[in-house]
Amino acid sequence: MAALLLSAVVAGWLSMFEYCPFSSTRPTFAPPRDPIRSESDPLAGDALKRGLWSLDTVALRDFGIGRHRQVDDTPAGGGAGMVLRADVVAAALDAARATAAEAPAIYLSPRGEPLTQALVRDFAATPGLILLAGRFEGLDQRVVEARALREVSIGDYVLSGGELAAMVLIDAVVRLLPGVVGKAASLNEESFEAGLLEYPQYTRPREWEGVEIPQVLLSGDHKRIAEWRRAEAERITRERRPDLWRARGRKDK
Ligand code: ADE
Repeated sequence: MAALLLSAVVAGWLSMFEYCPFSSTRPTFAPPRDPIRSESDPLAGDALKRGLWSLDTVALRDFGIGRHRQVDDTPAGGGAGMVLRADVVAAALDAARATAAEAPAIYLSPRGEPLTQALVRDFAATPGLILLAGRFEGLDQRVVEARALREVSIGDYVLSGGELAAMVLIDAVVRLLPGVVGKAASLNEESFEAGLLEYPQYTRPREWEGVEIPQVLLSGDHKRIAEWRRAEAERITRERRPDLWRARGRKDK
């Protein structure tokens, strides 16, 4: 099986995985922290070691203009912030494309279509992805159109850059690649796969702080257990995510 080839074009960091957002005291001699590619990560890191996926990063700065390798400029029409230049971004994307000819190009942006499990499944079925993680206020619209960038958002909040969003996307996609998660069945049962949130889980001890595991789960009756889980998944989805619940109703019709 061919490995999923990911290519990330990043504006903010030389390599997005050298960034450690939660530790401002990191000594400069410490090895880079890499939450996805760490060999001790039992899913993505291990799958990387086994050659199931790979990631190249392309630094936008390498395609910058002039002595200062400028990648951005002031917005046409005025206003605050800076805008990534179309020519610089296109050159970096084209360099990424050289190793990932068939890969859809995605621009991580709060303005994009929401990343859902359905979209993650589509991405996991591609031969690879080119991910553009921007910084600054935005990206010249001409390159979005000229390179057919698909804009994807990981949620209704604004991050200071697309790098963390790219990591979220990579993590969600990689765990769906064949051979990454040990038991494929555990993927089918988890949240969103059937348009439902996951049912509650329990494990030993049988009684903890005076609370028992629901009797049905100890009954050994697989049919009743499946029914209970289904009913719980539906209850939780109805209560917490009326939007998902309504969308399911429409699909069933
Ligand atoms: N860049 C900044 N905020 C983002 C978001 N919510 N999703 C994807 N990329 C982003």
